[in-house]
Amino acid sequence: MIFVTGGAGFIGANFALDWLQEHDEPVVNIDKLTYAGNLESLVTLQEDSRHIFAHADIGDTVLIPELLAKYQPRAIINFAAESHVDRSIHSPEDFIQTNVVGTFNLLESVRAYWSKLDEQEKADFRFLHVSTDEVYGSLAKDDPAFTELHQYEPNSPYSASKAASDHLVRSYHHTYGLPVLTTNCSNNYGPYHFPEKLIPLMIVNALAGKSLPIYGDGQQIRDWLYVKDHCSAIRRVIEAGITGETYNVGGWNEKPNIEIVHTVCALLDELRPRDDKKSYTEQITFVTDRLGHDRRYAIDARKIERELGWKPAETFDTGIRKTVQWYLDNQEWVANVQSGAYRDWVETNYADRS
Ligand code: NAD
Ligand code: TYD
Repeated sequence: MIFVTGGAGFIGANFALDWLQEHDEPVVNIDKLTYAGNLESLVTLQEDSRHIFAHADIGDTVLIPELLAKYQPRAIINFAAESHVDRSIHSPEDFIQTNVVGTFNLLESVRAYWSKLDEQEKADFRFLHVSTDEVYGSLAKDDPAFTELHQYEPNSPYSASKAASDHLVRSYHHTYGLPVLTTNCSNNYGPYHFPEKLIPLMIVNALAGKSLPIYGDGQQIRDWLYVKDHCSAIRRVIEAGITGETYNVGGWNEKPNIEIVHTVCALLDELRPRDDKKSYTEQITFVTDRLGHDRRYAIDARKIERELGWKPAETFDTGIRKTVQWYLDNQEWVANVQSGAYRDWVETNYADRS
């Protein structure tokens, strides 16, 4: 079986769901259930004996070794992290605790488990660390996209904490021989995305008649990948990646934020028109920029394509249409994640932006 950490979050939940559609190999899903962890995303696996949920922190040096000893996984995919840049600006400490200290403790637990395996099991074992393109910093307009050789220049507490975790993972390969793999992926979007991030926030706010807050001039560029393509890339890296290597994963979909929001509005205008028949773009508001806002990310995904034969299946047009439709079809999921804690966060992040 495999372990997935952070599997009640956005990408981890999509990964667990897709994995069990593709394989019969069981998944032990380890999640601390922070504000971002949502068991409702996994409700279709409730009766599925191939999915075992364990409520635990990756940094727990008692529970994680117990789970490893009990289930004897052949691979671990580490999604667990604090993942939202704006939250890292307001309160960076959780990011250091989970992304740095938590990853370190997890690596130590895994190293102790792995070192006792027999030689064949040791060689076959995989620890895949899921990271981000944000560790590479910000690109100027005409700079070439990030390759795996691009130097690390993280700019936010989030990306700095992810960079630190990537370095720890790398060192466990170099020093101890732990068979690790690292993926650095661009911005994901798709089902089960918590509505604090750009795309789901815009869909949810638009439907609620609220403003669509664009930071700064809206010309910041991100490289968007449909979440299920990220999941297929991770499956491919687990299957055929060379240990110690890193693989950049991206969708070849660079778009300025303002264009993303216009696309979302156009789809909503078509699929769920406003009562007054005006466009949802009327709700767009430009607000004070994010501190230290990275201008552009872009992934050069040629290595994973060349060496592992992976390519995204969705274009942005097909992926964003599926995403908007998913939110329209899953209003109950959306309503249930907008708890008091969610409303407090919206107040914290947006109240001071003029
Ligand atoms: P998310 O915030 O939606 O989910 C994170 C999950 O981890 C939650 O279920 C949370 O409860 C859990 N978690 C947090 N701290 C934990 C801890 N100490 N122990 C156990 N579980 C813990 O994040 P996501 O968007 O699904 O991202 C998953 C991973 O992918 C992260 O490592 C992130 O850095 C990386 N990533 C995300 C994107 C993106 O666009 N979302 C892009 C590239 C890489
Ligand atoms: P986000 O989804 O938070 O991902 P990341 O910061 O990790 O790239 O933000 C994507 C882009 O959208 C980023 O440039 C910030 C911008 N943004 C807004 O303009 N308004 C918003 O309300 C949010 C949440 C993000």
